[in-house]
Amino acid sequence: MDRLPEDLVNALHRARRIMALTGAGISAESGMPTFREAQTGLWARFQPEELATPEAFERHPRRVWEWYAWRRSLAAQARPNVGHRTLVGLADRVPDFTLVTQNVDNLHQRAGSREVVELHGNILRTRCSQDGGPVTEWADGGTLPPLCPRCGAPLRPDVVWFGEALPADAVAHAWRAAEAAELCLVVGTSALVHPAASLPLVTREHGGLVVEVNPEPTPLTPQAAWSLRGRAGDVLPRLLAAAWPD
Ligand code: OAD
Repeated sequence: MDRLPEDLVNALHRARRIMALTGAGISAESGMPTFREAQTGLWARFQPEELATPEAFERHPRRVWEWYAWRRSLAAQARPNVGHRTLVGLADRVPDFTLVTQNVDNLHQRAGSREVVELHGNILRTRCSQDGGPVTEWADGGTLPPLCPRCGAPLRPDVVWFGEALPADAVAHAWRAAEAAELCLVVGTSALVHPAASLPLVTREHGGLVVEVNPEPTPLTPQAAWSLRGRAGDVLPRLLAAAWPD
């Protein structure tokens, strides 16, 4: 990506209400594997339905639990990168800023973002597979997955699996932000998984502008007013510095 379009820089600086929608690409520079990239993506190595569905958990609960334990350890070792941090800086400059993420890695929160709308849950949280209630402590050393201390059902990560509903409050919050946004900044998502991928279209339908940051084109690209080809860690700091040069 060469020069930033001046009208984009002006639109960013002027916008009072911005929504950012992030996906796995923003954490790629922290060493977290994305999902769909040909060589390195998680789904290149594993079939999603073997690991990220309620059926997989019923059939192979230990395998699914251990796969998420591995991803949790990757997330714990990873550090937030300049892309995550730039969104914290943007939130400080925009009167009404909402960060919506599909990521479960907690890196936005560790970078300092507050009130992150988590559409797909958070890998650090655990809940009861029976009643869905949060569980923070359990007996270690027994079976895997560990069992709910309240009812004895297996515990599961508090993430959304394929075929499951998204958390209703997060979806409602994200929808309101998308409708109100003058500008929707879409960073590091293949824009293939709905309803998350619909959010920028909602902004567009309500008269807002869509800005995409991604090294590759996506199905969203034709809908974007600007599609910036580059890595989040390069493009986002340049955008912020151009819009707020002080
Ligand atoms: P994907 O793996 O589908 O897409 C990652 C996107 O990030 C791709 O479009 C890459 O081109 C882009 N990308 C890679 N490196 C980047 C970088 N440094 N800067 C910016 N962009 C970069 O991941 P998601 O779109 O997040 O859901 O996937 C959406 C959902 O599908 C996930 O939340 C997950 C998955 O299945 C569930 O598990 C429910």
